[in-house]
Formats: sequence, C-alpha cells, structure tokens
Amino acid sequence: MLPHPHEIIEKALQENRAKLLEHEALALVEAYGVPVPGYGLARNAEEAAEIAEKIGYPVVLKIVSPDIVHKSDVGGVIVGLSSPEEVRKGFEEIINNVKKHVPGARIEGVLVQKMAPKGAVEVVVGAIRDPVFGPAVMFGLGGIFIEVFKDVSFRVVPFSEQDAEEMIREVKAYKIIRGYRNIAPRDIDALIRIIMSVQSIMRENKEINEMDLNPILSYEKGKGALAVDVRIILKKQ
Ligand SMILES: Nc1ncnc2c1ncn2[C@@H]1O[C@H](COP(=O)(O)OP(=O)(O)O)[C@@H](O)[C@H]1O
Ligand SMILES: [Mg+2]
Repeated sequence: MLPHPHEIIEKALQENRAKLLEHEALALVEAYGVPVPGYGLARNAEEAAEIAEKIGYPVVLKIVSPDIVHKSDVGGVIVGLSSPEEVRKGFEEIINNVKKHVPGARIEGVLVQKMAPKGAVEVVVGAIRDPVFGPAVMFGLGGIFIEVFKDVSFRVVPFSEQDAEEMIREVKAYKIIRGYRNIAPRDIDALIRIIMSVQSIMRENKEINEMDLNPILSYEKGKGALAVDVRIILKKQ
C-alpha cells in the first residue's frame, strides 16, 4: 500500500531534508494518479536483483541520495539491465561512481525501476510556489527545447482542464506532440491528467516549494505517459 502523501512529507521534514528521496517523490505523485513504472528501493546488490526479478526486465538503476540532484551527471543512472547478474554488477558500479564523483554523499540505496517502453517523446511538467502569486505549473518538451529554446508554458493555479490543454498547445514544440513526420501524435489526454495532478499536489501540499517530473515519457495516442523521474523540494522550515 502507498504511504499517504502527508506522511512522506512529514518524514522528510522530521529528518530535516528539503529534498524527497526518489522513491518518496514517485510514491507521492503516484498517490495523485500519475502513472510511473514499477520500482523498489534496494539497500544492497542482492536486494536489487530480487526487486528486478519481481518487477521484470529490463530495469534501470538510480542512486538515491539526499545530496544528489542530477543523478546522471555523477554516474548515478544505469539503463537497460536485463539479468540478475547485470543488476548486481550495476548496483556496485553506481555506488562506486557516486563515491568517486561526490565524496561524502549520503547514500540511501539504489532505486530499481522498470525500463519504460521505447517510442516516447520526453516532456517535462514542473511547478514552483511564488510567495506572492502562489503556485504555477509549467509544461515543455525535454532536453534542448527547454534548456536552449526556453520553450515552455505556464499557468498560475487554479486553472481548468482546458487551460492545461492550452498549455500543451502553446509551446512551439507542440508540432511534435501533434505528430510530425515519423513521430505519431501523442496521447495529449494523458499529459493533461498529469498537469492536473501536479496542480492538485501543489494546492494540497503547501510544504512543497517546487517539483518537476523530468522526464515524462509521452507515448502515442491511447498509450498514455509515464513519469520516470520526479524531484520534489520542500520549503525550508
Ligand atoms: N525507467 C526508465 N525507462 C526509460 N528511460 C529512463 C528511465 N529512467 C530514466 N530514463 C532515462 O534516463 C535519463 C536520466 O534519468 P533520470 O531519472 O531523469 O535522472 P537525472 O535527471 O537525475 O539524471 C532520463 O532523462 C531518461 O531519458
Ligand atoms: Mg531527470
């Protein structure tokens, strides 16, 4: 059973952590109906292999640490592992990478996550809480679209489902979402549902200062979307 969102936040605050751990952030958005791939937290290599056997291959391994925000930058993500042997080896490799790149980082364990199917377009949904205007939710396409072109849309909370749809339509990269050359049209309803869930999370959890789902893997019409990485930052108390 999923822990209640409030319990997840309380635990982090008690431990004086501003950042939710990867599995906590995934559980929180899951409680609001955001689809995520199967996952579990492993404390050692054997546990990682057991979780992988349970959720099915291929899997992705990710470092879980309160001190690390960009996991790939420190060798903290390994994708496409297809056997218990690979998972055990991957576990040790991630721990070694992280110890080398971020000496002294606290390590909670390694997230074992089911690898999402191919054929996705990566999108991002984020939110910030402004002290004056309150929360706003952001949408954009992953990678260069946001980082280089700043091609994003925003809505201040509260907004309607129709507003969420407009957010998606008004980014320049909407051309890709609508279907372009060999890219089939995306499942826009699934993206609208995720934007609305993020709005609910920000409205109902005042302790959250910012969050982003980066990436959300967006599949073709009728095939949904999956949030594979969720970052949630709490207000400093
Ligand atoms: N479960 C997954 N299935 C498929 N690809 C994934 C999965 N998890 C992560 N990835 C890919 O790996 C990249 C890095 O992983 P992510 O969890 O976003 O770590 P970080 O952003 O902290 O480096 C993602 O942007 C995505 O392209
Ligand atoms: Mg990410």
